[in-house]
Amino acid sequence: MKESPFEGFSRLTFKERHEILKDFCGLSQADLKTLTEILDPHLAEQFVENVIGFYSLPLAIAPHFKIDGKNVLVPMAIEETSVVAAVSKAAKLIQKNGGFHTQILGSLSVGQIQFPIVFEIEKFEKDILNNKGTLINQANQLVPRLTERGGGVQDIKIRKLKRPDQKWMGVLHILCDTCDAMGANTINQICEFLKPLLEEVTGSQGGLCILSNLTDSRLVEARCTIQNLDESLALHIEEATLFANLDPYRGTTHNKGIMNGIDAVLIATGNDWRAVEAGAHAYASLKGHYQSLSSWVYKNKELQGTLQVPLQLGIVGGVTQIHPTAKLALRIMGIREAHELARICASVGLAQNFAALRALCQEGISHGHMKLHASNLALAAGATKQELPMVQTELQKHKHKTIGMAQKILDDIRRGKQNL
Ligand code: MEV
Repeated sequence: MKESPFEGFSRLTFKERHEILKDFCGLSQADLKTLTEILDPHLAEQFVENVIGFYSLPLAIAPHFKIDGKNVLVPMAIEETSVVAAVSKAAKLIQKNGGFHTQILGSLSVGQIQFPIVFEIEKFEKDILNNKGTLINQANQLVPRLTERGGGVQDIKIRKLKRPDQKWMGVLHILCDTCDAMGANTINQICEFLKPLLEEVTGSQGGLCILSNLTDSRLVEARCTIQNLDESLALHIEEATLFANLDPYRGTTHNKGIMNGIDAVLIATGNDWRAVEAGAHAYASLKGHYQSLSSWVYKNKELQGTLQVPLQLGIVGGVTQIHPTAKLALRIMGIREAHELARICASVGLAQNFAALRALCQEGISHGHMKLHASNLALAAGATKQELPMVQTELQKHKHKTIGMAQKILDDIRRGKQNL
C-alpha cells in the first residue's frame, strides 16, 4: 500500500500549503495572491445586482484523491467543520486501495418545451416524429460552435402527461450535449427558438420553455473498493445503505452528506450548485421512493462503494472562467474538460459518504466535529485570539458543548483576570 504524495498536508502551515500548490499545480506567486484576495467590486457588479459587499468562505484542499489513476488536489469552499478533514481521511484510505474509478454514463442535458393542452395527442406525436430530423438540424444551426465540438441537439423525446381535467399535456424533451458548459443559457435559447417552429408543425400552442435540472441523462458514476476493513464496520456500512434506501428520513441525510463534498467543489469552481442539488435529490426519488444515491456492499472481504449522480456542471460559461478563484480551482485540479470535473465531484461525494458512514458506525458524528466546534463556540461567545485556546481547552472537558457554556467559561476567565 503506497503512501499519499501529500502525506502530512493538514499539518503544514498556510504558506507551506501554498508551496505545494506552486510545485504540484504550477501556480505563480500572483495566483497564490489571488487566492486570498476579495473579488474586484466591478466584477461583482457584473455577476449580480445591488452588490453591497462580499461573503467569504474558507477555501481548503482535500489531498489524497487518486481518480482514474491520477493524483489530484481538490479545492473545496465550505463553512462546515470537519467536512474537509473527513473527506481527506477517507480519500487517503481509498487511495491506498487503488483510488476511485469513474465512468460518464451520459452527457445529455434536458430542455423542456411544454404544450399545456394538446387536443389530438397521437397526431401531435406523429407531427413531431415526422419533422424531428429537420427540427434538430435547425436547432443545431443556432449553435455551430457546439456542433463543431461534437455537441448540440441529439434527440427530441415526447412525453404525454394526463392533466387533472383528463386532457393531455405534451412535453418535449430536447436532449442536448452542451460539451464543457453547464448549458442552461444554450438550452433555454434552443427551446425558445424551437417553440414557434413546433407550434407551426403541430398546430398546438406552446407554454414554458426551460432547462430541466433533473438530468438523469447526464450521469456520472464513481466506484471504489476497500480491503482489509474491519468486517463488522464494513457490514454496518452496508446496513447504513439499506437504512438510507428504506427510509427517506435517513436517505435525505445520507445524501446530504454526499452533497457536502460535491457542493464544496462546485462552489469552489463557480458552478451552479443549486441546480446540481435539485437534480441529485430528484434523481434519488426517480423510482417513486426517495433512495440513497450511493451503495455500499460487503462482498469477498471487500467493501465496494458506488455512487451515481446527475452532474450538470461546466468549466466554461457562467462565472467559471470569470471568477478568479473559480479559474484557479480548475487549474489546481488540472481540468481541461467538464467530464473531468464531474468525475472528481462524484469521487468526492463517494468519499464524503464513506467518511460520514464510518463515523456514524463507529464513534458517532459529534466526536470529529468537537475540536473545531469548540473553537467556533468560543468565537461565537466573543473570545479574542488570546482567549480562544483557554475557552477551547475548558470546553473540551465537557461532553455536550453549548454556546451558553462557552459564554460562562469566557466570563469566568475574564472575571478571574480582573481579580488578579
Ligand atoms: C452532516 O453534514 C452530514 C451527515 O449527517 C451525513 C450522514 O448522516 O450520512 C453526517
